[in-house]
Amino acid sequence: MPGATRIVIAASATLAMSPLAFAQDPARGRAVAVQRCVSCHDINGRSRQPLRGATPFRDIALEPQFGPNWLAIYLPFSHPDIDGPSLGLAEVSELAAYIATLQRR
Ligand code: HEC
Repeated sequence: MPGATRIVIAASATLAMSPLAFAQDPARGRAVAVQRCVSCHDINGRSRQPLRGATPFRDIALEPQFGPNWLAIYLPFSHPDIDGPSLGLAEVSELAAYIATLQRR
């Protein structure tokens, strides 16, 4: 295997495992949700749910598979049509931190 390929594979593996390594600020995740998700989802268990069928974030927070790694993998595949540029791992990780705070309410 050429050296470059090996480096790319190693880097991809590191990225796939590293959402937790990013700073996780729930307040920033909430800001991302307000910008990018609230047009369809109830993002705090209290706002209205604009799009029927868009799972409220509080329900997402309580699902057993929920977590930063799951969200990082799930979002790009399930939401290819979200407006604006795709979210980076740091933003997804912040979103996950915010969604996790909804478990306590
Ligand atoms: C254009 C509307 C729309 C936007 C914007 C949107 N979503 Fe969704 N989302 C949906 C719909 C509809 C579903 C349910 C469909 C499904 O489960 O396949 C869904 C499902 C989900 C689920 C899975 C819920 C489950 O049952 O496991 C997650 C997680 C999610 N969205 C996160 C987000 C996040 C985070 C954002 C903002 C970055 C976002 N969504 C923005 C429409 C949207």
